[in-house]
Amino acid sequence: MRFEVWTKGLARLGVECLVAGVFEDGDLAEPTREIDRASGGRIAALAKRGDFSGRAGETQLVTDLPGVRASRVLLVGQGKRTALNRKAWRKAVLSAITALTRTRIASVAFALARPAAADLDDYWLARATAEITGAGLYRVNHLKSGKKAKPHALARVLAGPVSAAAEAKRGFRHGEAVALGLHTLRDLGNLPANVCTPSYLASVARALAKRHPKSVRVRVLDKAAIRRERMGCFLAVTQGSEEPPRFIVLEHRGGKRGEAPVVLVGKGITFDTGGISLKDPPAMDEMKFDMSGAATVLAALTVVAALDLPLNVVGLVPTCENMPSGRAVKPGDIVTSASGQTVEILNTDAEGRLILCDALHYARRFKPAALIDIATLTGACVIALGAHHTGVMANDDALARELVDSGLRADDRAWQLPLTEEYGEQLRSNFADMANVAGRDAGAITAGAFLGKYTKGMKWAHMDIAGTAYLSGAQKGSTGRPISLLSEFLIRRAAR
Ligand code: BES
Ligand code: MN
Ligand code: ZN
Repeated sequence: MRFEVWTKGLARLGVECLVAGVFEDGDLAEPTREIDRASGGRIAALAKRGDFSGRAGETQLVTDLPGVRASRVLLVGQGKRTALNRKAWRKAVLSAITALTRTRIASVAFALARPAAADLDDYWLARATAEITGAGLYRVNHLKSGKKAKPHALARVLAGPVSAAAEAKRGFRHGEAVALGLHTLRDLGNLPANVCTPSYLASVARALAKRHPKSVRVRVLDKAAIRRERMGCFLAVTQGSEEPPRFIVLEHRGGKRGEAPVVLVGKGITFDTGGISLKDPPAMDEMKFDMSGAATVLAALTVVAALDLPLNVVGLVPTCENMPSGRAVKPGDIVTSASGQTVEILNTDAEGRLILCDALHYARRFKPAALIDIATLTGACVIALGAHHTGVMANDDALARELVDSGLRADDRAWQLPLTEEYGEQLRSNFADMANVAGRDAGAITAGAFLGKYTKGMKWAHMDIAGTAYLSGAQKGSTGRPISLLSEFLIRRAAR
């Protein structure tokens, strides 16, 4: 895809299609007025007859307007003019891309009304255009037999009007990289657990390192190496499964030598049955998405490598299945984590924290500047925040704020939950240093408190993406969240 800017002269632009914004009640967006004037008022006439309502997201293709060089104009509803904000603008861009994929149009210029520059400057106009284009063109990995849908023709996208062309260029570059990360993440999330195994995730990591031999290194620990690391909690989770576990270590070296890295840790449960504490059947298939944290880490390193960010970043992915079997870990079993702390596993379905605690301990050797884990960790987080916000918990408020701010900026929102010491006290066990569950109250936070016992002395934040990583029902599939948030966080870190 080629991304460019336009500055003026819409009616004479050498593209096949102009995307023109129309508000409700026939009010035309500024750039649309220019197209309308050139065509002798054709768009205004169409709107006035009530043939196009301008409701947010509505689209209509009109062809061969006189006085306009582009052979098509795609009208896009932008809702009420007074309600124009970044969210409404995003919706209009996505609707346009969706409509364009059903045409043979190869080149397009966006001429929508733009929210105020404070909300969407030239950099963000370009970045968001590239991100949304990528999202709109995403198609789920084809595992359906039968005739494949004809691919879209789109090859060139122009955004505008732009005054700071260099800023826009940077925005396109960043947006394209984030879109690449989004595809990586969604593809991995959507793959079924019989394809996306721990070994498969390792092969994705290896392929990434191969594409970037100068900047990215990979190491994959097998079960014997995991044993040597004394990851007793991780081993307890994998012991019920026939599928071999992996512990993936990815390193992007873009910063100064010896500069403390950002370490990302992703939960990689490729399927979560609950183990002996077996889950109820409804929607259990969705537990193939339980490796979304791992996929986010692989995607984030994909973005970092694509942009060659001047930042040291380490990605850690503990990955295995959580299965019941004759060898599976049982409620009440006590195991020793890599940190030496012992854990009474009261519920085998609280497995995410068990693989993460050993990975968080492994992170210590990198002396991280910031340590961030990403996990579909608790149903309680879905109850608390729904699908709208990722839950953030941290032992460092500045780091939590940095993540929340990045999410706001990238329209991939997160919300901080309190993580005070009382929550950790709920994890008390009569037999071990701690239990892996703490009852129903504040389930998202007690899970965070469990992880907090392994991150003492490091600046650490935990992101619970159980509600945001994927959608259920008719829309079932990976959302690609929180790659935009995390990319923004890393881009900011690289710039500071
Ligand atoms: N993978 C689940 C969390 C989850 C639930 C993600 C729903 C997405 C949607 C996790 O391993 C789990 O099972 N957590 C338990 C913890 C409980 C046993 C303390 C949960 O949330 O029920
Ligand atoms: Mn579970
Ligand atoms: Zn799980």
